[in-house]
Amino acid sequence: MKLTGKEIVLGVTGGIAAYKAAEVVSRLRKMGASVHVIMTENARQFITPLTLETLSGNPVVHDTFERPATWEVEHIALAKRAEVFVIAPATANILAKMACGIADDMLSTTVLATKAPVLVAPAMNTGMWTAPATRQNVETLRQRGVRFVGPEAGFLACGDEGSGRMSEPAAIVEAIEAILCPRRDMEGLRVMVTAGGTRERLDPVRYIGNDSSGKMGFALAEAARQRGAEVTLVCGHTTAERPRGIPVAEVESTCELYDAVMERAAEQDIIIQAAAPADYRPAHPSVQKIKKKAGEGITLELVENPDIAAAVGAGKRPGQTLVGFAAETEHLLDNARRKLDKKNLDMIVANDVSRSGAGFNVDTNIATLLTRSGAVECPLQSKQALAERILDEIMALRNA
Ligand code: PMT
Repeated sequence: MKLTGKEIVLGVTGGIAAYKAAEVVSRLRKMGASVHVIMTENARQFITPLTLETLSGNPVVHDTFERPATWEVEHIALAKRAEVFVIAPATANILAKMACGIADDMLSTTVLATKAPVLVAPAMNTGMWTAPATRQNVETLRQRGVRFVGPEAGFLACGDEGSGRMSEPAAIVEAIEAILCPRRDMEGLRVMVTAGGTRERLDPVRYIGNDSSGKMGFALAEAARQRGAEVTLVCGHTTAERPRGIPVAEVESTCELYDAVMERAAEQDIIIQAAAPADYRPAHPSVQKIKKKAGEGITLELVENPDIAAAVGAGKRPGQTLVGFAAETEHLLDNARRKLDKKNLDMIVANDVSRSGAGFNVDTNIATLLTRSGAVECPLQSKQALAERILDEIMALRNA
């Protein structure tokens, strides 16, 4: 029972995902944790306190002025007792209150008072999640150290499709575990992760690029950092939020990525190349914007870019672990195996980027981890969960 003796406060706010809080409580209890639930008034419209009381074995708190059985200032007592403070589901409303320091009910009052790490699992309509006000509140909270799990993309209860679905209880519990029992199995290791897509300039305003958001690489960098590694990120163009506290070398083109990686490669213990570099670049990029000539086509001459992973593989030193990705749309495993050998990698993460929920610019991935001795299937899961799985396999290879 990994969480025996751990005190967790779980705030539940009013959204359709509130029913999933029951499974979060149940899983935490099975792991030995002591769980104290605070519900908002709205949450009580979606799930009864009795359910969460029965599962947690503790009274559910919701009213700031309720008379407690033993005399304590309840919100301060819970704020102090928490080793981690979780809010799942977290509505746009509670995120806004937290960002502004509003304390007008038991949950917002207690979370404002706590010194414990705070983890939120947002759940809301896509329009609310992407609204400028929510984006700003999320950014403010992140900057203050509040951690986020999800939201995931998918079908929402309101009938829309997009980002805003609460992470599954298993993922929330995993995130809680990572806070309460951080694994430090990568302490002392230097890890370089590449992320994002490259841009190959055609002229000052146009380029050849791809849809890589950086999410996969960032998840790997963040997970390695949490496990104690000294991490360096080398980033092409990305749209996802950068993990904080990790030094980043920014590049634009594949040639720049090559230089940045080669400059740092020798000192790394582990190199993970999740970036999507272009294989070709325009042979003669134009200094001025290319003018349209009506009625005429245009032919671009492309030249081959250096293969960074192959160059790193050629210079591999004993003790280094090299991991690449294979982004395929057909013959996934055959193509990936060829790349594993050709680039002298220790592992390749094969993802079929034509599958829904996998590959470019989504929060989830589906992959097979190929090594010379076997293959590990990783079904649809968050990029964070996959990152942990990849690191587990890397550490198993290194300790073999
Ligand atoms: O960033 P996200 O939106 O989260 O998307 C994640 C991802 C789809 C980009 C990621 O999961 C992924 O598959 N990354 C590899 C993309 C790619 O370039 O695949 P590839 O099969 O073309 O290349 C194989 C390997 O060689 C990769 O490790 C790549 O980084 C590397 N490579 C490729 C070309 C090149 N010129 N030099 C390289 O080093």
